[in-house]
Amino acid sequence: MIILGVESTCDETGVALVENGTKVLFNKIASSSDILQKYGGIVPEVAAREQIKVIIPLIRQVFEKYSTDKIDAFAVSYGPGLIGSLLIGVETLKVLSLVYKKPFIGVNHLEAHFYSNFLGVKSLPKLPAIGLIVSGGHTDLVYVKKHGDFFHLGGTLDDAAGEAFDKVARYLNLKYPGGPEIEKYASQFLPKTNINPFPLPLLLTDDLNFSFSGLKTSVVNYIVKNKLILNNNNVKMIAYYFQQSVIEILVKKTMSAAKKYNVKSVFVGGGVAANGALENLMRSSVGKNVGVYFPVKTFAVDNGAMIAAAAFYNKHYINPILLSANPNLRF
Ligand code: KG4
Ligand code: ZN
Repeated sequence: MIILGVESTCDETGVALVENGTKVLFNKIASSSDILQKYGGIVPEVAAREQIKVIIPLIRQVFEKYSTDKIDAFAVSYGPGLIGSLLIGVETLKVLSLVYKKPFIGVNHLEAHFYSNFLGVKSLPKLPAIGLIVSGGHTDLVYVKKHGDFFHLGGTLDDAAGEAFDKVARYLNLKYPGGPEIEKYASQFLPKTNINPFPLPLLLTDDLNFSFSGLKTSVVNYIVKNKLILNNNNVKMIAYYFQQSVIEILVKKTMSAAKKYNVKSVFVGGGVAANGALENLMRSSVGKNVGVYFPVKTFAVDNGAMIAAAAFYNKHYINPILLSANPNLRF
C-alpha cells in the first residue's frame, strides 16, 4: 500500500510517498529555517507564507514521478502545531483527496514522530514500547501498548527540550535552530571534570515529567555571575554541560519508564533525536533485551514520510470534509 504523507505543522513542509509504512519512495522537506534565522526563531506568519509557496510544487514533483493511480491514500498531520501552518497542509490535502477521489487519513503529528522509527528498517521494531518525543514544541514520554494505543506518562512542565536548546543557543549568539549548533560546540569540548555546574531538574522525582526552563535560567545566571565572555572556549564549555544536563534527564526518565512498563523497545523521535550525544547515552544505558531506535536524521526532524508511516499503521479513514486542523491536539 502506497501513502502520500504531508507535514506542515510548524516551519517545515514535508511531502513523501511511503510503501507499507516502511519503504520511502519519495521524501522532500522544504524548511524556512534560513529565513527564520534572521529572526532567531519561528515567526508563524512568515513560516506559513513560505509553506503556501512550496506545498503545491512539492506535491507536483511526486505526481510527476508516480502516477496518482499508484497512490492508495492521502494522509496529513492535522495537529498539534501552528494554526496558519496546519491549515495549509490540511486544506490542501482535503481538496486533493476529493479531486483525486483518494481515501483520506488525518494523523496526529506527535504519534507520527514515533513512527519515524519504522522508516527504512530491515526488521520492524517490537511493541510494547516507550516513546520519547523531543522536539522544539514537545517533550513527552508515552507508553505504546500496540499500534494506535498511546498512553501519556509525562511531559515538560515548561519549555520543551528543543526549545531550551534554541533559547540557550540564542543566548550564546549561535544560529537558529540551536540544537545542532549546541551539539557542534559541545562535541569540541574536552571536559577535565565531570562536575556539571548546571542542575538536573526533576531528575530524582518519582514522576515522569520534565522541566527545562530553570536549567536555561541557570545557564544565563552562571554566565552573568562568573562574568564569562562568550568566546569560543566558553561557548564550547557551556554547550557541553548544558547538553549533558538535558540528555541525562531525558535518558534517566526514559529508562525509569522502560523499566516500569517492561517494554521491548525504546523509540526516540523529534528534532532533538538527531542529537548524537543523546543517542550514545541512551544506547549505553538501556538493558540488553530492549531495542533502542533513533530515526535517521532526515526523519528525526519534521517530515512527510513519518506521517505516511503513521497513517499506514492507523488507517483511520475520514471524509475530508470532516477533518479540521487542531493546534491543541494531544496524545
Ligand atoms: O521536530 P522538529 O523538527 O520540529 C518541531 O516539531 O519542533 O524539532 C526541531 C527542534 C529544534 O528545537 C532544534 O533545535 C532541535 O529540534 N534539534 C536538535 C538537534 N537537531 C535539531 N536539538 C539537539 N541536537 C540536535 N542535533
Ligand atoms: Zn515535530
